[in-house]
Amino acid sequence: MTAVSESTLPAPVTPKKAWPGPRGHWLLGCMRPMQNDPLNFYQQTWKEYGDYVRIRIVPRMYLYYLADPIAIEHVLSENHKNYRKPDFFNKPVRMLAGNGIITSEGNFWLRQRRLSQPAFLRNQVVKFGPLIGAAAERLIREWEQGGAEQTIDIVPEMMRLGLRIAGTTLFSTDISGEADSIGDAFRVTFGQVSAMMNGKPRLPLWVPTRRNREFRRSKELIDRVVLELIESRRAGEPMHDVLGMLLAAQDKESGTGMTDQQLRDEVITLLTAAHETVGATWSWALHLLAEHQDVQQALRDEASGRLSGRTPTVEDLPHLPLATAVFEESMRLYPPAWGMPRESIDADEINGYPIPAKALVTVSQLVAHRHPAFWKEPDKFDPSRFLPGAGLDRPKFAYFPFGGGPRVCIGNHFALIEGPLVLAALAQRFHFTSAPGHVVIPDPTFTLRPKTGVRMIVRRRP
Ligand code: HEM
Repeated sequence: MTAVSESTLPAPVTPKKAWPGPRGHWLLGCMRPMQNDPLNFYQQTWKEYGDYVRIRIVPRMYLYYLADPIAIEHVLSENHKNYRKPDFFNKPVRMLAGNGIITSEGNFWLRQRRLSQPAFLRNQVVKFGPLIGAAAERLIREWEQGGAEQTIDIVPEMMRLGLRIAGTTLFSTDISGEADSIGDAFRVTFGQVSAMMNGKPRLPLWVPTRRNREFRRSKELIDRVVLELIESRRAGEPMHDVLGMLLAAQDKESGTGMTDQQLRDEVITLLTAAHETVGATWSWALHLLAEHQDVQQALRDEASGRLSGRTPTVEDLPHLPLATAVFEESMRLYPPAWGMPRESIDADEINGYPIPAKALVTVSQLVAHRHPAFWKEPDKFDPSRFLPGAGLDRPKFAYFPFGGGPRVCIGNHFALIEGPLVLAALAQRFHFTSAPGHVVIPDPTFTLRPKTGVRMIVRRRP
């Protein structure tokens, strides 16, 4: 009898796991509930089927929906090369932001990322501190002039602040003169982009429907403002901001710089990504603070104790841990990016579950951020989860508001500086309560923002 060494034996074959998941209507699949009430649909699906779910969107078309931090890390980081952004994401976003860094892939993306990255390192973005402080002060003055007490919708205010900060820090330009109209223009274009992304039926842009005309007018306004900015900068002295770096960038092989159109796409991409996400998080944070007066009081005590009325600076941040924790906890409960879509390139396997080539995959902040395996009382607003030293035992991808891997949000350090600074500045000067009768509902569009705004009574503090 010949001896058989272990190495000559075929490797044991582990059977692949079968995907659980809803099949929906025999003809329409799950499309309807996915479009009509996506938050409820995905949460219920997870409750019924777990962290690895295959959803039948329509017959023979599936979505692989992942909420296990191991699977999320696999897609975004470990095997990121096998996952690209799908066309159903890229196409609508390109209507607004062209081929900027968010929608580009491959070598072009890498070039744009390498070019922009240095401007977003933490040691660079800390320099934005005074501009962030000035923008917050300006908003505070505007609200103070409105009287001792006023009822306002916080959402457009926060979006405007985000836009003002993005303009002054990244492009040394205060577009706040245009902020109302450009803010509206972003809202309109965003609405259309979100609707297309969610698969809502829309006629092509060339059809002159009311919605399409509004979209085109808004996009033209954004393009005009941005192109004027580029033109004036090309004509003026070089400046050391993000736009200055993009203007100076040259392709190594051709030696040419970016065209006005490329520059426009990058500027619009950055303006959009920088204001919508942060604006939504501030809005949620103020809503949560209004609903949790004890936390609001603690934040006010922290801010007043450290600042005694002055504008916060970056140096204050280590002394404002609750302000950072409130911002982070708000992104946990209401993640601006509530699910990140990808498309597999080749077939893959995640934790025993097979993923076919060209499959639609979504990694879910919505579910992971409230997963009871990683969060005690997951639906409770409890910023202490993010105080220094807390949550060290959590898996890395149980909380990923900024994504992860090579395509992690380029503005994450920036957001974690401006976010808490503004919250501390506002909590110190105002008292927030929810307007009676106003119900705040999350709207799962491109970002998770409050659907009908956040009406709030804002009282000046003595
Ligand atoms: C609360 C604030 C923010 C949140 C939650 C957030 C979230 C994200 C997420 C999840 C991604 C990854 C998307 C994906 O890979 O599919 C992303 C990408 C990106 N974000 Fe942010 N973001 C925030 C603020 C900002 C700011 C302030 C800027 C700019 C100054 C910015 C610029 C970008 C850019 C350019 C990308 C694309 C990066 C790439 O593909 O290489 N974001 N963001």
